[in-house]
Amino acid sequence: MENEHSRLQVGLAAFAGLLDEFRRGNIAHRRREKATMDRHTAELCQMWDQRFPGFPQERFAYASAGGVRRRGVRDAYLKTIIVELLEAEQHNLPSRTVVNPACVIGRHARDVARRLRDFRVIATDIFPWSNRLYERAILRRSPENYTFHQDDIFEPQVQVPPSAVIFFGACGSLSDAAMDYTIRTGCPYLMCRTCCHDNIGGNTQITKKLTLLNWFFRFKNLSYSWARKRLKGHYFSARYSAEQYPRSRAARSMSNSKEFMEISRNSVDSDICRAIIDLDRYLYLIENRYDVWYKGELFIATGTTQLNAHCPPFARMTEKDRSFKQA
Ligand SMILES: C[S@@+](CC[C@H](N)C(=O)[O-])C[C@H]1O[C@@H](n2cnc3c(N)ncnc32)[C@H](O)[C@@H]1O
Repeated sequence: MENEHSRLQVGLAAFAGLLDEFRRGNIAHRRREKATMDRHTAELCQMWDQRFPGFPQERFAYASAGGVRRRGVRDAYLKTIIVELLEAEQHNLPSRTVVNPACVIGRHARDVARRLRDFRVIATDIFPWSNRLYERAILRRSPENYTFHQDDIFEPQVQVPPSAVIFFGACGSLSDAAMDYTIRTGCPYLMCRTCCHDNIGGNTQITKKLTLLNWFFRFKNLSYSWARKRLKGHYFSARYSAEQYPRSRAARSMSNSKEFMEISRNSVDSDICRAIIDLDRYLYLIENRYDVWYKGELFIATGTTQLNAHCPPFARMTEKDRSFKQA
């Protein structure tokens, strides 16, 4: 409880500090942003470093084309944490099932499956063709403990209660839906990296700036706008509309959805804006009784002792979820 309390205080302080910087317009200047981020997230990062040493220090700021390229370095580090944690905890888990929503081609899920032979790894994505084509393209066979299911994370149908939900860059509200899936299934572990903060709440607009990254994201959002109109469930859902942000009660007492959409529109060129959106998620997970660690868009959340001891898998699911399980 004490732990939970101090995590909440540290998260709140970082959130409030960065929100204040946003309101003053102190964003989107790379060198100044780094100093501001270091100042407001020092304690949060220290908590992470103590628990998960070895965070790859970036040569580039995240808000740059180079920073996007280096997401893979953080994914590799995250996978090491996932494998080590689940290996160590395997005898205390309710099941040995890992679910990876929005897996795209399933390369990370296959890698985790190869390294965790005693676990079943279920990769899901609304669009099945990327995984199918990848399967045909690679010469190596998929590990036997790896399966793929076509699934919409906004309306998840996968019936197995997972022991860990993992993802490596789930765009915008897909990250929030995967977090809700973790909470609803009473899953004890969430280990993930968020991305495309400009797409929360159905947003596809970004503030214009003459950088390679900004142009790349503008182009990406053209295709996302097309997907939003034509492809039901892809990337956007009415359940995660602008009014649903901020997500945490704590953040709602300090901000509102109008401001959050403005933060989202600025998030491509600003680590501060992305951290504000992530810290709201951090607070939301704590409010849902998870212990959370956060650094550089990476989250590790573990069900608190009460959750593990008194809340069996599916106990926190809705009626609708239960009927999927029984069907
Ligand atoms: C841009 S990719 C994320 C890429 C990721 N950063 C990576 O490098 O592997 C987003 C993926 O989310 C999937 N997706 C979109 N809407 C979804 C939904 N409602 N449920 C599950 N997956 C969805 C897309 O099909 C796509 O494969």
